[in-house]
Amino acid sequence: MQIKAAILWEQGAPLAVESVELDPPGRGEILVEVKAAGVCHSDLHATSGDWPMTLPLVPGHEGAGVVRQIGDGVTRARVGDHVVLCWAPACGRCAPCEDGTPLLCDRLDKTTFRNKLPWGGTRLRARGQDVAPFLGTGCFATHAVVPEEGLVVVAPDVGFTALAAVGCAVVTGVGAVTNAAKLPKGAIVAVIGAGGVGVNVVQGARLAGASTIIAVDRQAGPLEIARGFGATHVVMPSGKTADAVKELTNGRGAEYVFDTVGSPATLTDALLSCRKGGTVVVTGLSRIDALGSIRLYPFVMQEKRLIGSVYGSGNPLEDIGQLVRLHQRGEIKLDELATRSYNLEQINEALAALGKGEGGRGVIFPA
Ligand SMILES: NC(=O)c1ccc[n+]([C@@H]2O[C@H](COP(=O)([O-])OP(=O)(O)OC[C@H]3O[C@@H](n4cnc5c(N)ncnc54)[C@H](O)[C@@H]3O)[C@@H](O)[C@H]2O)c1
Ligand SMILES: [Zn+2]
Ligand SMILES: [Zn+2]
Repeated sequence: MQIKAAILWEQGAPLAVESVELDPPGRGEILVEVKAAGVCHSDLHATSGDWPMTLPLVPGHEGAGVVRQIGDGVTRARVGDHVVLCWAPACGRCAPCEDGTPLLCDRLDKTTFRNKLPWGGTRLRARGQDVAPFLGTGCFATHAVVPEEGLVVVAPDVGFTALAAVGCAVVTGVGAVTNAAKLPKGAIVAVIGAGGVGVNVVQGARLAGASTIIAVDRQAGPLEIARGFGATHVVMPSGKTADAVKELTNGRGAEYVFDTVGSPATLTDALLSCRKGGTVVVTGLSRIDALGSIRLYPFVMQEKRLIGSVYGSGNPLEDIGQLVRLHQRGEIKLDELATRSYNLEQINEALAALGKGEGGRGVIFPA
């Protein structure tokens, strides 16, 4: 079928919204009509050139929609179901999957993280060429074909605006708190970067019963949103981030520091903002060639812990369903995350706004 999609032909250049040929879903695959898609900083890393990419590419990996067609053998969804897309469709059979760590699935490294469907190819073609779906998802489009392990069926009465960012920002941020840090009640938390992922770390920390949640950002907009999501303090540091965090924690630093930016500079900020015996969780991703440095002597002597956390460090299929249920019970905010809305033709505007650090999430409504 002919669909409309935003294609990246050259990194650093604007995306082109154009007609694309999409093959029907193959065995175990599902055709989804995309109703809403969040614009994540990982899309910007891919389009700007921070990360090497298969080109041409349809970006977009966080979204929700309606099942329109199912391939042979599909058992997890039916036509008409409302679904949230999941960009880590684990195989369920490799050693990491058997160990209960589906995010470390070997098939993801070989296919999804190389912008291929699990069988190793793509269902998209434009201008006579194969077009890769970013993270096997490619949802900056009117439709996407994804594997059935790459979506979660949700209740049809939850709005698509609320669902737009659950499949990346929300599960990554909340899961970093609950699964990676296993935050104890009453914890003192600092969050560096209060963008899409950062404010979800904030709400995860609130949910886990943190006593203090300090949100740090370079911009005022994200900090305002962070306050609404449960930050007890917001800081726009004029000097060193660690000085600002220490000032708010009796000079000791936070027990848990989340680095949602993931740059060499913020890793240093995070380690310095963390008290003795504390934990730093890094969810942010830098340029592919970035190296962070650690002063080893104090790191060891002060018994700090450093954890990398991908996609919420749990089982995203279960976690996404659980987050939607929490939203239905009023325990987490989802609609409030969607601060800007765009149609598909405005995709470049949406990416530019994200790059400026305006805060919250821009959401694309492709229909
Ligand atoms: N680990 C994962 O599974 C995962 C999932 C989603 C996104 N990511 C990555 O997480 C990062 C954040 O994604 P996002 O969508 O939340 O981005 P975002 O652009 O919405 O938020 C980033 C925020 O960090 C702030 N910031 C930048 N540099 C800063 C600094 N030095 N000090 C303080 N604040 C600073 C920005 O102003 C912005 O508000 C990206 O690198 C993205 O690729 C990782
Ligand atoms: Zn993302
Ligand atoms: Zn696997």
